[in-house]
Amino acid sequence: MCGIVGYIGTRQAYPILMDGLHRLEYRGYDSAGCALLSDNNELNIYKAKGKVADLELLADKQDNSGTLGIAHTRWATHGVPNEANAHPHASQSGNLTLVHNGIIENYVVLRTQLEAKGFTFKSETDTEVLVQLIEYTMNVTGADLPTSVRQALSKVIGAYAICVIDRRHPEQLVAARKSSPLVVGVVPDHTEFFIASDASPIAQYTKTMVYLNDEEMAVCQCGHQLSVTKLTGEEADMEVKEVNLDLSMLDKGGFPHFMLKEIFDQPAVLRDCMRGRVINNPYSDGDQLSVVLSAVTDHRKELLKTRRIIIVSCGTSWHAGLIGKQLIERFCRIPVEVAYASEFRYNDPVIESDDVVIAISQSGETADTLAAIEQAKNHGAFVFGIVNAVGSSIARNTDTGVYIHVGPEIGVASTKAFTGQVTVLTMLSLALGMAKGVISQKDYDETLEELIHIPEKIERILKQNDKIKQMAARFTYAHNFLYLGRGYNYPVALEGALKLKEISYIHAEGYPAAEMKHGPIALVDSEMPVIFIATHHVLYQKIVSNIQEVISRHGHIIAVVTEGDEEVAKMVDEVIEIPSTLECLDPVLTVIPLQLLSYHVAVAKGLDVDQPRNLAKSVTVE
Ligand code: G6P
Repeated sequence: MCGIVGYIGTRQAYPILMDGLHRLEYRGYDSAGCALLSDNNELNIYKAKGKVADLELLADKQDNSGTLGIAHTRWATHGVPNEANAHPHASQSGNLTLVHNGIIENYVVLRTQLEAKGFTFKSETDTEVLVQLIEYTMNVTGADLPTSVRQALSKVIGAYAICVIDRRHPEQLVAARKSSPLVVGVVPDHTEFFIASDASPIAQYTKTMVYLNDEEMAVCQCGHQLSVTKLTGEEADMEVKEVNLDLSMLDKGGFPHFMLKEIFDQPAVLRDCMRGRVINNPYSDGDQLSVVLSAVTDHRKELLKTRRIIIVSCGTSWHAGLIGKQLIERFCRIPVEVAYASEFRYNDPVIESDDVVIAISQSGETADTLAAIEQAKNHGAFVFGIVNAVGSSIARNTDTGVYIHVGPEIGVASTKAFTGQVTVLTMLSLALGMAKGVISQKDYDETLEELIHIPEKIERILKQNDKIKQMAARFTYAHNFLYLGRGYNYPVALEGALKLKEISYIHAEGYPAAEMKHGPIALVDSEMPVIFIATHHVLYQKIVSNIQEVISRHGHIIAVVTEGDEEVAKMVDEVIEIPSTLECLDPVLTVIPLQLLSYHVAVAKGLDVDQPRNLAKSVTVE
């Protein structure tokens, strides 16, 4: 959580920093701030409670000149969101200023020690301790900024990505990280450097980027090559990458919200996700399709010897994992466990060295998922990543993996990443099932043939947007929703409920439809909207019986049904039709109307869809 940006160079820093903060606002948006070293060497710090726009209202009118600056958008951990707790934080003398993403676990001890040395604190944050500690180290040792940062960080327990400047040294910007992401953008002649929590604020200025590794520090000095060292002081192996971000993905493209744009992006990005992976089989005469994933081809040995797969993930990615379990067990006949990464890491899990652990993450930065990966690696398991953010920590810390390639997802509520993850899990289970020789050729061919038609089927569902919008307006009164589905659609029920909770603040529960009678049915009355995913598959008649049970209790039913369904349509209050598909591919279709429904309920309630309260898109703290 929290986004940080830094700039040193020849241009005015302020517009670059503000633009960068807007791009990083998905990481936190309860307060924001910036520090600029002005052209006449004044250090100006501006902070505002609220969003980046609130900061701009304040700072636009002030002296915001200067070619060196740092900025921050916050998701509060220590201390309520207010001006005092907003970053940047300055040191006692006012010489050093710092922005931080992460959590300093031993901040109380450090603060007490610093207070004993005469330091006073203006905020309740763990971050202020960092900047004071660097200053204290500098005072005691007389060392320069990079050395003092390094020495101070050796005393710190926790997670951090920091940017720090010293007003006496306008030629220098120092950044360091441990367990929180940080990217440095460089231009060929070293006249300017860009620092950010991810590549999106940098991409419009340079494609050349260095992703700092854990416990590394970067010193940016104009006219000099970027210096990257380990926090121990040794030279680091700096890997310079060419990062190609599709910049059109970073704006709303005419849609009122990123979430709606990302819902509508799905047909195109799922085509991207399959591009070059689902191909015409070069060895067949006809149009036979085949799925080729280099991660599977290159790691056959590790993948084929496994007797168990463990999927670790959080939030929406965990729901995709539940679908992945069903796909892999069906097509590969390998038992799969799905764990919340946050539970897995502390449960003393039994991990064998021949296990394969699949980590699923949109951001590639989720702290709990990263920790679960670490644990799996320590036990010798082979770790496979399914990640969206290219170059992210999870992508770099896994043994191999498949990018979902759906482009940056900005709306806090995940939509296209979910369908991308399920698409990759489908391709993975087919490729692995074929490599193991356990999937029938018929299942393989049929599923791939259907998979490539999914994008156009999503396009058909999206045409019902207006109808779903009108439907949503009728539910703004609700305080509770129940989402019910079975089999492959049970995780979709969970995901539909999560979407509604996240952005409309309506309590919603997802349940396996048949479990309803063991508890949730007690909640059903005429005030309770109940969403059934009742598509035409093997458990259809069973779901019809569950629907009857809710009708008897006067629940208001919305059913997601297969096109042409007449039976359920006659029974329920509202229906949303989706094109028919194979049961195992249902989730990528059935989730679409649920995404749209929660979006429109939230809009009808006048809520901030892209930045819902208390949430952040990238959860880089425990
Ligand atoms: C946060 C986001 C969710 C996301 C979850 C896991 O809670 O708001 O949308 O599903 O983190 O994130 P990841 O990036 O690991 O998929």
